[in-house]
Amino acid sequence: SRISTKQLLLNAEKGGYAIGAFNVYNLEGVEAVVAAAEAENSPAILQVPITVHYDHGTSKSDLLQALEMGFDSVMVDGSHLTLGENILYTKSISSLAHAKGLLVEAELGRLSGSEDGLTVEEYKARFTDVAQAEGFIDETSIDALAVCIGNVHGKYPPSGPNLKLDLLKDLRALTLKKGVSLVLHGASGLPRELVQECIDLGVRKFNVNTEVRNSYLESLKKSGKDLIQVMASAKEAMKAVVTEKLHLFGSAGKA
Ligand code: 13P
Ligand code: ZN
Ligand code: NA
Repeated sequence: SRISTKQLLLNAEKGGYAIGAFNVYNLEGVEAVVAAAEAENSPAILQVPITVHYDHGTSKSDLLQALEMGFDSVMVDGSHLTLGENILYTKSISSLAHAKGLLVEAELGRLSGSEDGLTVEEYKARFTDVAQAEGFIDETSIDALAVCIGNVHGKYPPSGPNLKLDLLKDLRALTLKKGVSLVLHGASGLPRELVQECIDLGVRKFNVNTEVRNSYLESLKKSGKDLIQVMASAKEAMKAVVTEKLHLFGSAGKA
């Protein structure tokens, strides 16, 4: 039988490691993550011993479809809404998902993209607020909280990531008390030591997209003109990135 996303995160909490959630866009991507997870005997988020998670659900109709289609878990992304709207949106999906026994992740605060070009003040205004998070968790009954502590989708500035680890510590205290898993988006570009610190501070799921995507393109630039060879090389390149992350997250050998 299939393991649930909820169980993966509970196991990670017990074991003090984190689960990699890898975004994929084509069959080679799926194969690369599955191959790496199998080779490393690691759980991961996508498929058996992997679970499949619907990432960044910004529309209710898309999320309803994901629940119908048999995804193991969903992320309700109401981060573009006001707090009140985000609560109502997240709540409406979480009650339906929970009726199916599925895990619900939601985001509070707003994740910046590396292309957003925000000032430091604007970044800070988007951080997850601990008091708001408490109310949000109580109102929505979510299982996992994606936090904004200076993490960004895509590239970090040349000066490197500047994560607010004291805020992460406070959010961890809250989520531990509430039995909610801590999620960090934007894991591409985080140095190894910082990832380890985040795990030590309770992050149990890291979302990884850009590094896997870029490895595919890099491999295409290098590989020859034979389609089968091109696909195989691209898959190997992605697999190598995923394998490295599974070790870094500490999930290798934990399936
Ligand atoms: P990165 O592209 O920075 O890895 O972010 C991935 C992500 O958060 C997907 O939801
Ligand atoms: Zn994300
Ligand atoms: Na990133």
